[in-house]
Amino acid sequence: MTIDIDTPPTIAWVDDHVEIIDQTLLPAELRVIALRTVDEVVDAIGRLAIRGAPAIGACGAYGVVVAIDELAAGGSSAGPDELGPLTERIADARPTAVNLRWAVDRVVARIAPMDAADRRAGALAEAHAVFAEDRDACDAIGRHGAAELPDARTLMTHCNAGRLATTGIGTALGVVYGKAREGHPVEVYASETRPLLQGARLTVWELASAGIPVTLMPDSSACGLLASGRIDAVVVGADRIAANGDVANKVGTFAHAVAAARAGIPFYVAAPTSTIDPATATGAEIEIEDRSGDEVQASDLRAAHPGPVAVWNPAFDVTPADLVTGIITEVGVLRPDFRESIAEVLAG
Ligand code: MRU
Repeated sequence: MTIDIDTPPTIAWVDDHVEIIDQTLLPAELRVIALRTVDEVVDAIGRLAIRGAPAIGACGAYGVVVAIDELAAGGSSAGPDELGPLTERIADARPTAVNLRWAVDRVVARIAPMDAADRRAGALAEAHAVFAEDRDACDAIGRHGAAELPDARTLMTHCNAGRLATTGIGTALGVVYGKAREGHPVEVYASETRPLLQGARLTVWELASAGIPVTLMPDSSACGLLASGRIDAVVVGADRIAANGDVANKVGTFAHAVAAARAGIPFYVAAPTSTIDPATATGAEIEIEDRSGDEVQASDLRAAHPGPVAVWNPAFDVTPADLVTGIITEVGVLRPDFRESIAEVLAG
């Protein structure tokens, strides 16, 4: 099977600004928007115009360059006192995906020892490195995933951990594309991923654009689907992996992992090592983003009850490490005991 991809990149540095696909508009409209100010970068990340852990990491990295340019336009230098508040705003735009703070801090640390005159070029070079490393990591995840799951024809995934969520071919969907590149027959069941429908809007659009057979399913059908024996493996992405292998990912992932375990189906997490946070001991320490109730209480559903209702809308949940079969990274597949395999891989 060939994969045919001719859509614009999810994120790119163009001339003197960031360009992203505005993912809030997909699949109805494929619109590329420019981010030229720190406000625009923070807003784009916060409203999920760009989303997915590695993609917001790259956006944060380029955001440091945007911040330096913004200071220069106002006649300020990009010393730590001036730059710090702007880069903190970017790193705090969303709390759960460790890639965002990791990437911002990496660029800031790279330019800290530089002369003022060199900082902008240094920041841009480091942001390009973040971008390129993620693209290469996705390719490697695809290769390792294809080698790990050569006979898994039908995969189930949740949310969107594909091209739209990374600077390359994706993580969970990187495994799908990796299998397609190897000539394996592969098809995907994509859960809707309420409330913002990253599965229905983004994964279906992305896989269909690449010519991969995809079937959309309600989130609530996953348990029955997994029990039916039609799925060979579940593969999802991650926003943060704790040192013990607990995995924060889009809300609903934990339920899929429980159902997969009950059905005896392997449950894989595909993520670059930049998503592993050694400073977070267990999943209990991961900050879970709480989003607006308006996302759940959509206007078309409001008629179902007489007025506004209290809403709990966590964006992520934490899947305990004991439900994870393996973590497919760019350096290979990590296996339980994850505390040991993670420590080993981070030690290099
Ligand atoms: O809220 P989102 O859409 O940013 O959530 C994205 C996910 O949960 C992805 O699975 C995760 O970031 C991995 S993307 C390669």
